[in-house]
Amino acid sequence: MHIPRHVAIIMDGNGRWASRLGLSRLEGHRAGTENIRQVIETFVNHRVQCLTLYAFSTENWARPRLEIRGLFHILGQVIDRESRALHEKGVQIRLLGKLEGITPALQRRILKAVDLTRDNDTMVLSIALNYGGRAEILDAVHRIMAQGLPPESVDEDLFDSYLYTAGLPDPDLIIRTGGELRLSNFLLWQAAYSEYYATSTLWPDFNDREVKKALRAYGRRQRRFGGLESQPGRPAPKPRH
Ligand code: IPE
Ligand code: IPE
Ligand code: MG
Repeated sequence: MHIPRHVAIIMDGNGRWASRLGLSRLEGHRAGTENIRQVIETFVNHRVQCLTLYAFSTENWARPRLEIRGLFHILGQVIDRESRALHEKGVQIRLLGKLEGITPALQRRILKAVDLTRDNDTMVLSIALNYGGRAEILDAVHRIMAQGLPPESVDEDLFDSYLYTAGLPDPDLIIRTGGELRLSNFLLWQAAYSEYYATSTLWPDFNDREVKKALRAYGRRQRRFGGLESQPGRPAPKPRH
């Protein structure tokens, strides 16, 4: 079976999961962290090299302050709880997004986990937190302009290297749980040729069996990258730089 090199997940549906059970949205967010270990482990076992999890978007600031505060608290606890075990598995933790705006306590926990795992190479686990695809592209444009680079030197490879995802291959597979069929500002530049897999399963119910289902579906896809040749599940070509 062809295995994607990079899988990115839009972890959606925590709130609906909670309301179906008569629980609070925060209880939904907490439940949406209980499955994380199993999901990551399944990807590691399938030799997926990069996994990106969309945890908080730049648009999620529109939510009630109490929900945001509670969510950040839960995320901090999970990073603290899981980073040692991830380190032992050789997982490198990375942040995609802007640190500014995130509470200092969560910033410290993220930086500690990033620092602890920086030399690992079994898998790169990127947490997209305070992440927006448009903000990422604009950030890259600002930095390129601030350096005064000549326009003709700005090609796709150079642009890639200014994104938060610099050095990572483009996602081969983007999974969205919770049943919506949209990107919600996720990896806009990088998703140009990604395969999409949407499931109505709500994020807290997404487990190892669901991961295997998504990987099997990916293995059946014919990727052509604009050409005519059909390649089942072939990963995107390696970045040229
Ligand atoms: C996804 O679950 C988690 C975040 C966006 C932070 P939601 O909180 O969006 O859950 P639903 O979509 O309301 O069910
Ligand atoms: C997308 O979910 C963002 C994350 C999973 C972090 P949302 O629940 O924010 O997406 P919309 O608002 O339904 O598009
Ligand atoms: Mg949602």
